[in-house]
Amino acid sequence: MAAETAEQLGQSQTTEAPKMSDELFGRFVELIYTISGIRFTQTKAYFLTSKLELRRKALALKTLEDYYRFLQQPHAKATEYPNLLSEVTINETFFYRNQPQLEAFEKDILMPLINEKRRKNDLRLRIWSAASSTGDEAYTTAMQLLAGSYAKDFRIEIIGTDISRRAIEGARTAIYGSYATRNVPAPLLNRFFRELPDGQHEIRQEVKSLVTFKEGNLQDTMQTKLLGTFDIIFCRNVLIYFDDASKRKVLENLASAMTPDSFLLIGHSENLYPYRDIFRQDLEKVRALAYKLAPRKKTLEELGIADLVAAKKD
Ligand SMILES: C[S@@+](CC[C@H](N)C(=O)[O-])C[C@H]1O[C@@H](n2cnc3c(N)ncnc32)[C@H](O)[C@@H]1O
Repeated sequence: MAAETAEQLGQSQTTEAPKMSDELFGRFVELIYTISGIRFTQTKAYFLTSKLELRRKALALKTLEDYYRFLQQPHAKATEYPNLLSEVTINETFFYRNQPQLEAFEKDILMPLINEKRRKNDLRLRIWSAASSTGDEAYTTAMQLLAGSYAKDFRIEIIGTDISRRAIEGARTAIYGSYATRNVPAPLLNRFFRELPDGQHEIRQEVKSLVTFKEGNLQDTMQTKLLGTFDIIFCRNVLIYFDDASKRKVLENLASAMTPDSFLLIGHSENLYPYRDIFRQDLEKVRALAYKLAPRKKTLEELGIADLVAAKKD
């Protein structure tokens, strides 16, 4: 994973931090955790307090205690939670993030999968960029597919979801500055982006037409189920924000959106060894940090009499 800046991680600030009591900090931490699964620790106090201050000022409230009370009102879930989450999430992303992983993904996962599907006459490919942020990852996958032109006969559907409404709006607008596009190879930049007079780059319709974006919370089982199943799921650089319980919940939700043939790709600094009851690492495709569903343990009913007798003998 690319190193995130101190500001992005909410650490090591030199200017004086805005103040909030430990008790109030704890209440905000619990609220954000309950909504999103993101666990802020004391080391992120400066980051969190400054972000909450932005919301307090935007709502013209006097204190952070007032903002906390505002968040308790019944309408806040629909009106203010999205603003809060857009503010406190870290949306660091860029096109072609981790090129070696993406090259391995294309060569060792995507192309063989397309060949296998074509052999089975299943010409539909569904890809989910879970925690897509501003869409850079989802559009990168679309560009890989278009540039490779090995899936021309496929119906391709790429879905990007993120809990941050602001990030999803950015993904739909699809205009990017030079930080986001710095890794895009020049010929692909010319082919898939249109340069705007202010020097930013807008994604062309050919790419946009393969991708749709939705607000979505990875902790939400119902929401995840409604998305259906995917051939490939990218869930990169987001698990780091969760604690063990919320990570497990997210991974179970992702597993429910997979079939035994699906692949899950995670970020370079992440590993799912503690969750090997849900996912097994696909060792052949390890460079792409790919996982498949672990064999499911049978329930007692599924085991049946013969299995029970065999198990007793063992
Ligand atoms: C660091 S970005 C990673 C973006 C992209 N996957 C990448 O690797 O470049 C993490 C994203 O996770 C999103 N996120 C955090 N908690 C989430 C949740 N519970 N459900 C959905 N998205 C979440 C954040 O809003 C943020 O955009």
